Amino acid sequence: MDTSLRLANESDVDAISEIYNHYVLSSTCTFHLDPETRDDRLAWFRAHDDRHPVTVYCDDGTVVAWASLTQWHPRPAYSGTAEISVYIDHRWHRRGIGRKLVMDLIQRAKALGFHVLIGGVCTEQQASMALHHSLGFVEVARFTEVGRKFDRWLDVAYFQLTLGKDDSRS
Ligand SMILES: CC(C)(COP(=O)(O)OP(=O)(O)OC[C@H]1O[C@@H](n2cnc3c(N)ncnc32)[C@H](O)[C@@H]1OP(=O)(O)O)[C@@H](O)C(=O)NCCC(=O)NCCS
Repeated sequence: MDTSLRLANESDVDAISEIYNHYVLSSTCTFHLDPETRDDRLAWFRAHDDRHPVTVYCDDGTVVAWASLTQWHPRPAYSGTAEISVYIDHRWHRRGIGRKLVMDLIQRAKALGFHVLIGGVCTEQQASMALHHSLGFVEVARFTEVGRKFDRWLDVAYFQLTLGKDDSRS
């Protein structure tokens, strides 16, 4: 199997969108209700700079998963914090790709000087909850009934991974 994990480029936007839109229509892992357009995803991609990478995992040149570090909050004091996203093509689950992509993002985040990574997860998403736990993320908040999709209220857990000791607090 010829696989690769690399930075995404604009030609990956359609594949990224296709993977994502499957979950928009079928899952509570995203709180979008309607499929995104190519322009939506292109704008999102262009909002990611060198400090906020988008990565893809390819099998024989086909993108089967993607991940990203996205700005957590626009106010400058939050610049050491980023939010992670990871989406695997539903036909490629449970092959270790999600773990690989998040571990790679953690390494990239460290190299980029981030201090904290945040992940927001709908609590009924057992795969995502388990993935975050297994990689050392700690659940730091849980909001109840903050989302509504498929005619039911949904809870959201926020996970945090602190990447390095901050001497300024000691
Ligand atoms: C969550 C997701 C990224 C996991 O990706 P994956 O490639 O299938 O997962 P991996 O094979 O790398 O598994 C890594 C760990 O995740 C957990 N996990 C993955 N799928 C799971 C499942 N169906 N049930 C329980 N735990 C699961 C396990 O802890 C697993 O470790 P293990 O195999 O040693 O038990 C994938 O299911 C997905 O894309 N879901 C939809 C999008 C989403 O929820 N994204 C996360 C929020 S941004």
